[in-house]
Amino acid sequence: MKLLPELLALALSLAPAHSVSLPGPGSRILSRPSNVARQDNDGIHLAVSPVCGPLSGNTSDANTGIHLPLIKTIVAFGDSYTDGGRDDGGPLAPPVVVPPDAEAGGRSTDGRVWVEDLAAPYNATLMDYAQSGACTDLSLWPSAIKQVDFLGQMKTFLSQSNKLDPETTLYVVFFGINDFENSKTDGEANLQAAAQVILSQIRILASTPTSARKFLVTDVYGRGTHTPAGDAMVQTIFSGLHDLSRGINSTGAGEGLDGKPAGPALTVAFAEFARIWDGVLDGTPGFEAFGYVSTDACITDCSITFCGTDGMCDDPDHYFYYIPGHPNKEGHQLMADYVEEALTRCV
Ligand SMILES: *[C@@H]1O[C@H](CO)[C@@H](O)[C@H](O)[C@H]1NC(C)=O
Ligand SMILES: *[C@@H]1O[C@H](CO)[C@@H](O)[C@H](O)[C@H]1NC(C)=O
Ligand SMILES: *[C@@H]1O[C@H](CO)[C@@H](O)[C@H](O)[C@H]1NC(C)=O
Repeated sequence: MKLLPELLALALSLAPAHSVSLPGPGSRILSRPSNVARQDNDGIHLAVSPVCGPLSGNTSDANTGIHLPLIKTIVAFGDSYTDGGRDDGGPLAPPVVVPPDAEAGGRSTDGRVWVEDLAAPYNATLMDYAQSGACTDLSLWPSAIKQVDFLGQMKTFLSQSNKLDPETTLYVVFFGINDFENSKTDGEANLQAAAQVILSQIRILASTPTSARKFLVTDVYGRGTHTPAGDAMVQTIFSGLHDLSRGINSTGAGEGLDGKPAGPALTVAFAEFARIWDGVLDGTPGFEAFGYVSTDACITDCSITFCGTDGMCDDPDHYFYYIPGHPNKEGHQLMADYVEEALTRCV
């Protein structure tokens, strides 16, 4: 049943372009779940590095003290980039593609998503609430197609009354792409409100009963493009994290304001995935420098609810996008690598 990844890669590289015969339904596994097989990440590697800077300045990579080896649980909120195929924090389906469904266990990619890659080396338990299509707050975006948002994910998480140790639990927040997409129709004005939603939900997590203390926020809202309003949204989040790290309004009770004593100082980190997208798509250093052969999407047979393997490219490991607008599993590994580098170098 199991086809060795090496054999599959060989079969694909020998096959003439466009004549690849795809495995039948349920017959073969296109993806590789093990750590070992991904150690070289199929030759895809980071060709950009985090640029560390202070939280008091312009958006950059930053870390006030998240140390992954101490983390036992990762709680993740986000959109399709972070969606592991279910949205209730429970164990995820194996990250394997079973044709004709192109999505590995419900993920918008052909293997693990980045936050799984981040958790795996530390054996941290991932509780994933991210949902494909999610924005920060649906009330900001009348044109949103999928009726899912950060607020709903918070509702799910909080309703579970999870008892998690604040010292060993990392809360990951990764939104922006769908807010930015929606803003193209609904107008840019609410991008600032979206930034405030992210900060206010972090304050809720930092309050009782969750009392969260460790947060990682990431962003790539424009996926290779930037606008002044988009960059300003990210800057508002980044500057807000500076306040939270100093206990200013860190649980939303006005701490550190109007003469009140500071609240708990949250440990925060920010990773600017935009550097990867800009590097791959903007020509400096360009996609080839990362080991990619194309910036196209490998899978094109997609509707709003389903992506199929029919007519897929012959080299999924080296196409930057797997389904349109979504990195392949190697790209997800790059995102995890980028975070690791930011966390270790930017303290
Ligand atoms: C932040 O960016 C602006 C605009 O690019 C620049 O003028 C300013 O000097 C930067 N500030 C810092 C602290 O780097
Ligand atoms: C993770 O678990 C595996 C298998 O149980 C073990 O071999 C490995 O040493 C663990 N790694 C860490 C960092 O704890
Ligand atoms: C403090 O946090 C609360 C709750 O998130 C928010 O409504 C309020 O605007 C914040 N105040 C300031 C000055 O940021």
